[in-house]
Amino acid sequence: MDKVKVGVLGAGRGDMMIKYCANADNAELVAVCDFNEFFLNRAKARCGTETVTYYSDFEDFIKHDMDAVVLANYATDHVPFAIRCLEAGKHVISEVLPFETLKEAVELVEAVEKSDKIYAYAENYCFMPSTREMRRLYREGKLGELEYGEGEYLHNCESVWHEITQGNPNHWRNLMYEHYYCTHSVGPLIHITGLRPVEVTGFELPYNARKGRMGGKGTLAALEIMKMENGAYCKSVHGDGISKNSIWYTLYGPMGRMESAREDVQNGKMKFLYTNLDTYEGENNREDYVKGYEPRDELSDKADSYGHGGSDYYSMWNFVEKIRGKEDADTIDVYEALDMGLTGYFAFQSALMGNIPMEIPNFRSKLVREKYRHDTACTNPAKAGEMLLPSSTQGDIEIPDSIYEGLREKWEKKMAEDIANNYVKK
Ligand SMILES: NC(=O)c1ccc[n+]([C@@H]2O[C@H](COP(=O)([O-])OP(=O)(O)OC[C@H]3O[C@@H](n4cnc5c(N)ncnc54)[C@H](O)[C@@H]3O)[C@@H](O)[C@H]2O)c1
Repeated sequence: MDKVKVGVLGAGRGDMMIKYCANADNAELVAVCDFNEFFLNRAKARCGTETVTYYSDFEDFIKHDMDAVVLANYATDHVPFAIRCLEAGKHVISEVLPFETLKEAVELVEAVEKSDKIYAYAENYCFMPSTREMRRLYREGKLGELEYGEGEYLHNCESVWHEITQGNPNHWRNLMYEHYYCTHSVGPLIHITGLRPVEVTGFELPYNARKGRMGGKGTLAALEIMKMENGAYCKSVHGDGISKNSIWYTLYGPMGRMESAREDVQNGKMKFLYTNLDTYEGENNREDYVKGYEPRDELSDKADSYGHGGSDYYSMWNFVEKIRGKEDADTIDVYEALDMGLTGYFAFQSALMGNIPMEIPNFRSKLVREKYRHDTACTNPAKAGEMLLPSSTQGDIEIPDSIYEGLREKWEKKMAEDIANNYVKK
């Protein structure tokens, strides 16, 4: 196969995948779909209309001649579109999260199993320089088997909330329970080690004034304590309403520790990895006390200008290469994606039930997943029916309309500025 023809659904976050295709030598952008005029026009301004066709309706978009679709639409809407794309014979890469309800998770696995196309989950934090290198070292046996791990994805989103929710009180980011957006912190722990989480206990951090100003109904952050299939434990914490950002991972094994840089210690060096590894299991046999370095490979120069420490480049590159026949391209398949997403789902169930440990079902088993075929529990009333979930363990939080009106005004001002600037990125 020459260049893979890619279509992108959702041109907000999808802008990054659009950029990938515009510059890649293994893919080309052929179609973009967004029903929001602002985002569609922004894509047009950036990519031109010569080789790319623009759609506002998915039904027209899906008929376009393309090999693969990037799903960068609403996080809670990925499954119905993934199924439509697979049925139409397209390869699919899905942004986070993999599903909203367990019913959808069952339907997604079934659609992928039925299809001969590739489904990849774009959990980009697995492809940061540090997490990529941790995976390589772990798979080479440098750490030994995991004993303990931690993952953090803490992101104070207040300054961009008007841009990413547009003042819409029903935007998925405003309705979600905080455990939902779990895979940036949970995902790398799973992808590095290849271990399945089998049990989870969930805790919510409190609701705070920042979340009130943002109009989000989930708490400020959520915490998962996961038991892995080998008996190791991992801690994952993530949230959008915390004061300071942290992207950080650490893993311990019998031969030492490897961890990415703490942002406060190595400001601007989030790509750094520190290893403190023994050459064999036992005392005093370290080669170096601690080695700190920025892991780089043959793709790093190209990846440097991409978001999230260059990880956005790698998730697309691997997906496209897999389509082109590179069997060992590093993609996240549907089962691994569900292991990641189910951890947050069951952590919230645990938190709702007073923090009791919950088993995480293995959706590789038809028998196990059958139990969830009709489970529509989620925070979206239209989808949940009688199984509506609250957005936090604290019940429904009332947000005055004025909060959303203020955010909407801010968003309209930003749109006007961007249009006047012909959508050029600052
Ligand atoms: N991996 C990351 O680092 C990262 C970062 C940001 C966002 N995301 C994910 O990317 C996705 C998109 O997020 P976002 O920030 O762009 O905001 P979003 O979820 O508000 O945007 C979705 C975009 O898709 C469009 N859209 C939705 N449904 C559509 C449909 N049926 N037809 C046409 N267009 C449709 C919307 O108009 C909007 O522009 C989400 O899944 C989010 O979780 C991932």
